[in-house]
Order: sequence, then structure tokens, then C-alpha cells
Amino acid sequence: GPLHFSLLTLFPELLRPFTQEALLGRAVTAGLLKFDLHDLREHAGNRWRKVDDSPYGGGAGMVIRVDVVERALAALPVQPDEIILLTPAGKKFDQKMAEELAEKNHLALVCGRYEGFDARVESLVTREVSVGDYVMMGGEAAAACIVEAVARLRPGVIGDERSWQDDSYSSGLLDYPEYTRPAQWQGQGVPEVLQGGNHAAITRWRRDRALERTLSRRPDLLPSAGLTPHDSAALVD
Ligand code: ADE
Repeated sequence: GPLHFSLLTLFPELLRPFTQEALLGRAVTAGLLKFDLHDLREHAGNRWRKVDDSPYGGGAGMVIRVDVVERALAALPVQPDEIILLTPAGKKFDQKMAEELAEKNHLALVCGRYEGFDARVESLVTREVSVGDYVMMGGEAAAACIVEAVARLRPGVIGDERSWQDDSYSSGLLDYPEYTRPAQWQGQGVPEVLQGGNHAAITRWRRDRALERTLSRRPDLLPSAGLTPHDSAALVD
């Protein structure tokens, strides 16, 4: 069946186009993905639709009430396999986590705003996730990151299965550089080996460029990249 995302947010209209356009929209039409958007304000429990209150102990900003999140989650017609809170204080999202989440059937993503949620929401969720070491104004863009990274791992969502078999992070290395026409552009050519038909030479060239790029841009990825003796020798050169 489709991978089902339930998105809980104060700004459902911020995420709606995301679930309707481009590859995600196509995957929904094809029955590979399913999205539903839930406005936390519908669960405010007061006629002013107010979902937040001032922090105990004082200080700036407002805190989203835990009972609002509780009601919003309880109102989901089907209980999800995972309930993920987006917060800069969560576990850092990476390709391995994306692969793990892509195995599930139904993920709920809870987007924060303002100063954050009452700390007790922790007991309502299965994990807290951060998309990186920076603070955004809300969790919506973070939820969009999770959706993008997880959805493309489901069979059929991206046309060509090969495009993620050998992409960055699946191989443990950054991607090798790609080229298309024109063969000459502003004095910059295309490597000769790619214009010939020696497929073994092309494969080796691409692997070497991926190694070289990873060494110069992201050396932290190399220890877990599963290098062959040939790779290690190539890196020394
Ligand atoms: N909300 C605000 N910043 C965030 C981040 N870096 N990751 C997840 N959710 C967030």
C-alpha cells in the first residue's frame, strides 16, 4: 500500500502545495503516497482557537499546549506507526534514518512553531528529529525535508531506480560529477573518458572522482564509506 504521511501543523497551507506538486503529487496520483494535513488549531479546545500559553517560570515567547497536541493525535482516524516531533533538539536526521522510516506504512509529523511545545509532548511521540544544527522558525520546512528524503526511497516514486542506488550517501560517498551537452562551454570541456565507450574506464573514473570529492569536501564520510583496497590506493594518489 501507499506510504501515508499525516502532517500536523498550525500552517497546513504552507505544506499543502508540497504534497501536490512535482514528483510527490505524481506519486499521490499513482497511489504510492498518501498525505493528510491536520490543523492543530482545530484542536485548541476554545473558541478563540488559541493553542499556546505563556511559559511557567516566566520568560519570552509562548509554549504550545500539550493537550492540544494530544487531541490532534487522538483525532487521527488511524494510529500511525511513528509520531515524529520536529525540533532542533531532536536526533539529527540522516540517510540511515530516512531508510528506516521508508520501511513504515504511516508516519505522523508534528511541526512546532514559536518557542516550542510543552516538554510533556515527549510522551506523545515515538521520536524527536532535527534536520540540522540550525534553528528555523517552525518545523514545516523540516517536515518537508523528511517527506522528500523518505518518499523518494519508495519504489516507483522516482522514475529510474538507479538514480538512488548510486547517489550520494547510499554509496557512502558524494556523487561523481555529471555532464551533458554542450561538450564545450566557456572554455570548459567534458572529460575525454566520458565521451568514449569504455564502460569499465568510465566506472573507475566516476568512483575516483567521487572519492576525490568526498576527501576534499566531506572527509568525515570516508571512514564509514566501505572503501575497497583499490579505493584506498586511489585516495593516496
Ligand atoms: N524546527 C526549527 N528548527 C528545526 C530543525 N533544525 N529541525 C527540526 N525542526 C526544527
